[in-house]
Amino acid sequence: MTDGKVARGTLAVYPGSFDPPTNGHLDVIERTARVFDMLVVAIVVNPQKRAPMFSLDERVSMLKRCVEPFRNVRVEHFTGLLADYVRAAGAEVIVKGLRVVSDFESEMSAALMNRALSEVDTFFLMSDQKYSFVSSSLVKEVFFLGGDVAALVPHPVLSLMAEKRTTLQRR
Ligand code: PNS
Repeated sequence: MTDGKVARGTLAVYPGSFDPPTNGHLDVIERTARVFDMLVVAIVVNPQKRAPMFSLDERVSMLKRCVEPFRNVRVEHFTGLLADYVRAAGAEVIVKGLRVVSDFESEMSAALMNRALSEVDTFFLMSDQKYSFVSSSLVKEVFFLGGDVAALVPHPVLSLMAEKRTTLQRR
């Protein structure tokens, strides 16, 4: 009997800002968790990026709730280079989702750079077509302009976004 994993014994890292996590991210997590033995969802702490909508603690907590159904997925965070993080974590694989051709252009150089720095390869997963237009930044913009994003983010994320909006409106 096998456990159905294609890549047994392999630790994969799915990095991102996850500000906020979307259903597109969740879809990549779910499909990747079926392939690799252990998947770490790694939230980048990027001091150069302008203020995120969600604090690191909020992103960690939202993602932890979202990945509860998957026994082989855990949530971590890192600062600095992804290449250093994956090497230190002993990961064999970086996972990225590709939505559209423009993603490919930027992700190709990132994958080559990360391999040059760490010898860790990047595996790409095509996003489900129903999420090919979904990005965290677009979700935030639409949400704050009053659009309905309920079908685009996991439920715990939607609740926290609504709380944030209420807090901001009170200021
Ligand atoms: O969700 P995002 O913002 O598209 O994720 C981008 C991320 C976190 C994968 C990328 O910014 C990253 O790897 N940051 C860590 C710093 C780093 O290693 N930069 C060089 C990448 S080749």
